Amino acid sequence: MTSSTSTNRTSLWGGRFSGGPAEALARLSVSVQFDWRLAPYDLAGSRAHARVLAHAGLLDAEELGKMLAALDDLEAACASGAFRPTVEDEDVHTALERGLLERLGTLGGKLRAGRSRNDQVATDLRLYLRDHARGVALRLVELADALVEQAERHVETPAPGMTHVQHAQPVTFGHWLLAHVQPLLRDLERLRDWDARAAVSPLGSGALAGSSLPLDPVQVAKELGFATAAPNSMDAVADRDFVAEFLFVTAMIGVHLSRLGEEVVMWTSQEFGWVELDDAFATGSSIMPQKKNADIAELARGKSGRLIGGLMTVLTMLKGLPLTYDRDMQEDKEPAFDAVDQLQLVLPALAGMISTMTVRADRLAAAAPVGYTLATEVADWLVRKGVPFREAHEITGKLVALCVARDCALDEVSDEDLAAISDHLDPDVRSVLSVKSALAARTTYGSTGPGPVADQLAAAADKLITWRTWSEESVVPR
Ligand code: ARG
Repeated sequence: MTSSTSTNRTSLWGGRFSGGPAEALARLSVSVQFDWRLAPYDLAGSRAHARVLAHAGLLDAEELGKMLAALDDLEAACASGAFRPTVEDEDVHTALERGLLERLGTLGGKLRAGRSRNDQVATDLRLYLRDHARGVALRLVELADALVEQAERHVETPAPGMTHVQHAQPVTFGHWLLAHVQPLLRDLERLRDWDARAAVSPLGSGALAGSSLPLDPVQVAKELGFATAAPNSMDAVADRDFVAEFLFVTAMIGVHLSRLGEEVVMWTSQEFGWVELDDAFATGSSIMPQKKNADIAELARGKSGRLIGGLMTVLTMLKGLPLTYDRDMQEDKEPAFDAVDQLQLVLPALAGMISTMTVRADRLAAAAPVGYTLATEVADWLVRKGVPFREAHEITGKLVALCVARDCALDEVSDEDLAAISDHLDPDVRSVLSVKSALAARTTYGSTGPGPVADQLAAAADKLITWRTWSEESVVPR
């Protein structure tokens, strides 16, 4: 086997090596192609670090001024694309140090004092994810808003609520749509809870042991918008809980979107015919001219696989790693970035699909009583008359069996037949045998009746206003 070597002019670690890294090592090791997106966060960390070095007397005022100006210039060059990483830059930190050296000469080399890529990368990723969690949250709010808006139109629209995909009891379609909003509200809470735990700055931990230089990690943390600095430098450079936990939240979101997607696929099928998608949010077939497919819903369902996979990737990678930093941890970034990217793609598409879809209220209402969904009303009616539920269930079961045998509805049974099934059944029972009365009877907190659904809707809409504000707050200072 031959090993070709390449010399690396910008490397951060060449001193004790006699030659450059083997080509195969360089190619395995390089992460700049995906971690370049951390550049703005790395630069923010550099600005804070430069100030702390100056405060410690390790940079004089003039050097600090030059350093900050060069960092600003580099940031602008990164943003415009004038400064790009090259194949020789191992990672984002290497590339940015090169950019600084190009601007400042040897002065640029002072910034690395008291700092390591280990605390840098952990800091950058926390900043990136905290920033982007808010972006994901905003997209979640927009999807939830779209669902709430549709729900508003269907507070009273009856639908056949299901368990096991079998008609179970009538519900309002507004309640059904809001049942997709509640998990999104929990996801928003998860993001905020996660954010509070992620708001800890590793900067100042150095490679693993902190620093002998008079740095001020607490001040740096404050400058970078963190709540606090890490209390243990070894934990700080090794901790990727925040990545795994973020990926759990995104996987959970994926599962929620998948369920919504699956329902839209069913609702738009010929068999259901409950929903028609707007042309702009549906796709056609290359061979069957009549087709209109719910590809957005299917992609939402499909994306959950990779979101769950990202969580598994990171947990498996972390399992059994010894303290402190291990290079394995470089593998944390792609799943985290991918989760953000996928959600930023799928959430706006779903929101557009939901807000433009047409709900066929007539078909939903017609389907609501089908399959004896009012049977529970009969049993509850018997209970109100003092019949133990066990017996009421039995009696109602007999009534259903009779209707099935005669292929008729529950309210089409004669007075005589009712009496024959049970002494407790009298013609009065017909008063509960309408979908409208069944829904109106559901007045308790959280029920599907129009009253509680209107309350739920108002509460959800209120919460979403608060979440929008939270999502739009910026956490990373310029
Ligand atoms: N690219 C590395 C990562 O993402 C940065 C930290 C490298 N540190 C080191 N000691 N090699 O984890």
